Amino acid sequence: MRVRSWAEPYKIKMVEHLQMTTPDERAVAIREAGYNTFLLRSADVYIDLLTDSGTTAMSDRQWAAMMLGDEAYAGSKNYYTLEEAVHKYYGYKHLIPTHQGRGAEHLLSKIAIEEGDFVPGNMYFTTTRLHQELSGGQFVDVICDEAHDPTSEFPFKGNVDLDKMQALIDKVGADRIPYLSLETNVNMAGGQPCSMANIKAVGELCHKHGIPVFLDATRAVENSYFIQLREDGYADKTIAEILHEICSHTDGCTMSAKKDSLVNIGGFLAINDDKLAEKARNIVVVYEGLHTYGGMAGRDMEAMAVGIGESVQYDHIRARIGQVEYLGQQLLDEGVPIIRPIGGHGIFIDASRFLPHLSRDQFPAQALAAALYVDSGVRAMERGAVSAGRDPETGENRYPNLELVRLTIPRRVYTQAHMDVTAESVVSLFQNPERVVGLRFNYEPEYLRFFQARFEPILGDAVLTGS
Ligand code: F0G
Repeated sequence: MRVRSWAEPYKIKMVEHLQMTTPDERAVAIREAGYNTFLLRSADVYIDLLTDSGTTAMSDRQWAAMMLGDEAYAGSKNYYTLEEAVHKYYGYKHLIPTHQGRGAEHLLSKIAIEEGDFVPGNMYFTTTRLHQELSGGQFVDVICDEAHDPTSEFPFKGNVDLDKMQALIDKVGADRIPYLSLETNVNMAGGQPCSMANIKAVGELCHKHGIPVFLDATRAVENSYFIQLREDGYADKTIAEILHEICSHTDGCTMSAKKDSLVNIGGFLAINDDKLAEKARNIVVVYEGLHTYGGMAGRDMEAMAVGIGESVQYDHIRARIGQVEYLGQQLLDEGVPIIRPIGGHGIFIDASRFLPHLSRDQFPAQALAAALYVDSGVRAMERGAVSAGRDPETGENRYPNLELVRLTIPRRVYTQAHMDVTAESVVSLFQNPERVVGLRFNYEPEYLRFFQARFEPILGDAVLTGS
């Protein structure tokens, strides 16, 4: 028996009923959704592991904070509470709230990037890269090679490869690099952390060349936990201290508060530089809202401030990442190929190895996500060639090394029993992988195609055959 010395640091006060459906009903639902789990109705989903974004259960304290909403158009009290929380835990000087993370990415890209610039980052994120491209920039991947290898056990696969960064500076010149975008707990790599030593070294290298570093702080708290667990010298530091130290090596951040900060909507741009912050305040009013609410209701800002405080509590983060590990370990025990080490916000199944009978142009990860839904009502997400989109220059499909299905765990929402049901379904498909049929596009949108694309099976009319 595996010894378990901890459990969730909360109890349940209210429940939300789930819809139970049959495989036949789900086969119809997924066909109608064009075999894209984004197009399913959530009412048809049993266990929703599409994303950890905005799917959090808020605490009783956050709900109480919602009642303190000050819905003044300008100068809401809640803005100042949020500003204090961001200052206290992240340490940045200026706060510009936005409706969610991509709002902050949009503003930063617009104020910092000029046509022909190069924007290095430790692996791409879909919305981040698109905003950089729409502002005339070209994304350059400077993540370490281990991140692209699903079997590497390297504990800090989020690290920037300093040689790649130096090579970019040598090639294009520091004045063509408006900033480096440094993502913590890199999502597309499988929720993999950066080490503090690397973050510090990245800051030093960039600052030596006058290049600012902007953190994508979306999952920086989860990254802080891994630093505490894995990096020498951090075992006795608190999560809050580690988070503060990460931020201290950077010049600002974009933030999707729908993840770490335990809220259903919201984000921010934080900036230390006074002039850049002024530019951001000038432009936020065009795209988001006044600079003291940026697209959020006052009550949302208050709940976020409380959520930030809760997010750095050790018991919370341990249970959160512990639950992800619990699911991952069950899959590893059965030999399912997943990205290792187990990441912070989800389990990433290596669909190429899971479905060796499907070629990349049959979108194995998309097919596996659809088949998993039919099998058990668990909704996952593709993170492979469909998400990677097309090269804007050549128009060709991009085929990243990683062809993944993400089982993303919402914070404080599901129990370990839900994890067990999920593992059983994944394992049963893994034992009969040839039941899963490949897919081809029949509708492909121009931007962020994975959200609204539609597919059809390459053979027959079902993505999962037999029973
Ligand atoms: N950066 C990272 C690392 C993200 O994971 C996300 C969102 C964003 C930025 C954009 O933030 O959604 O608030 O606009 N990730 C979600 C996901 C969508 O499911 O991984 P947003």
